[in-house]
Amino acid sequence: MHKDSAVGIHDLSFATGHYVLDHREIANHYSVDINKFHLGIGQEAMSVPAADEDIVTMAATAARPIIDRYGTADIRTVLLATETGVDQAKSAGLYVHSLLGLPSAARVLELKQACYAATAALQFAAALVSRDPSERVLVIATDIARYDAGSPGESTQGAAAAAMLVTAEPAILRLDRPSGLFAADIMDFWRPNYRSTAVVDGKTSIAAYLQAIEGAWKDYTERGGRPIDEFAAFCYHQPFTKMAHKAHRHLAEFSGAAAEPDDIHDAIHTSTLYNRVIGNSYTASLYLGLASLLDHRDDLAGKPIAMFSYGSGSVAEFFGGTVMPGYREHLRTAGHRAAIADRTPIDYAGYRSLHELSLPVDGGDHALVEEGRGPYRLAGLSGHKRIYQARSRR
Ligand code: CAA
Repeated sequence: MHKDSAVGIHDLSFATGHYVLDHREIANHYSVDINKFHLGIGQEAMSVPAADEDIVTMAATAARPIIDRYGTADIRTVLLATETGVDQAKSAGLYVHSLLGLPSAARVLELKQACYAATAALQFAAALVSRDPSERVLVIATDIARYDAGSPGESTQGAAAAAMLVTAEPAILRLDRPSGLFAADIMDFWRPNYRSTAVVDGKTSIAAYLQAIEGAWKDYTERGGRPIDEFAAFCYHQPFTKMAHKAHRHLAEFSGAAAEPDDIHDAIHTSTLYNRVIGNSYTASLYLGLASLLDHRDDLAGKPIAMFSYGSGSVAEFFGGTVMPGYREHLRTAGHRAAIADRTPIDYAGYRSLHELSLPVDGGDHALVEEGRGPYRLAGLSGHKRIYQARSRR
């Protein structure tokens, strides 16, 4: 085993969309048995952003409580991971940097590799902090999962942002070494520049995910990682929560761990509670899983947990973290529950009109109707520029 560094996640906060679509609405619309969603894919509801919300407003909303608690000093790097980019050149992180009032002495950039990029950002942040422990790095994962209406992926949409402060004295989770890595050039899920919805081969994507966990686990063990039965819990990337179940069963069988239904439930259940009602949030999904795990278990202090990150295309990483003593005092459980509970229910027709909405591309001046109620909004477009605004604090 490598000597572990002390670097890790000091604070973790997430935000999600303004609306919530219950899967019963989708089941009714398509005359499908609701158990296909509740049992088959493990989803009950999905977040739907308002027309004046996007990855920037969700990212800034997720990070705001971290800045309010710890201030902006020594944040010299902002890494924003997304596969819902709003510009081919400018990093969405710069809008967030501005909305949060972060120091101008900063490097800010956007990372992309499907749902994996936030884990790359986290590891890059850890490396920067290891080199200079006085620095703190803001990592934000923010995405809106969109598939064509009527396609098999439609019921696995969702939206959220997870913000993390990475420091040398983490209050929540120390990142352990080694990491197990896996990369393969595969077309399981992708989104060409001219499309606003992803193209996906569902069954291939599930097989690719399972192949990636085998590859990453093999590399992890070859590099001296922990035996699987040392982990107190497992967090998986969750395109739909049943995928975490499939992944853990596959890993357990592959690695020789206990794989009875109760074993799988105990290993993953608490990490799936938020994702089950938020849906896929691509880069943020794994970190919503981490928030869910920590918010729902009070017995993890000092214990190692496993994390598995998968980004179609594909890149995957298996890594461990050790939960810090006293972690529960630093969590944002009430805020996370409120972000979920405060969403406004929307019916299938309302969701579809938002799904079909596209922003004008003519470069003219377009104000957006005020719809969401978060601290930040996309106020409009002008001269091909996105105009963001902070609302007066509630
Ligand atoms: N009661 C109980 N279970 C039911 C049921 C019912 N009435 N009806 C169906 N089911 C079960 C099925 O048996 C099936 O279970 P298994 O997977 O255990 O076999 C499950 O519900 C799903 O049913 P289908 O396979 O018929 O569903 P589908 O073909 O309509 O689509 C999907 C499923 C392929 C996951 C689709 O939602 C999809 O394409 N999603 C997007 C892609 C995706 O999320 N891929 C995951 C890996 S890629 C990744 O992780 C990156 C990422 O974020 C996208």
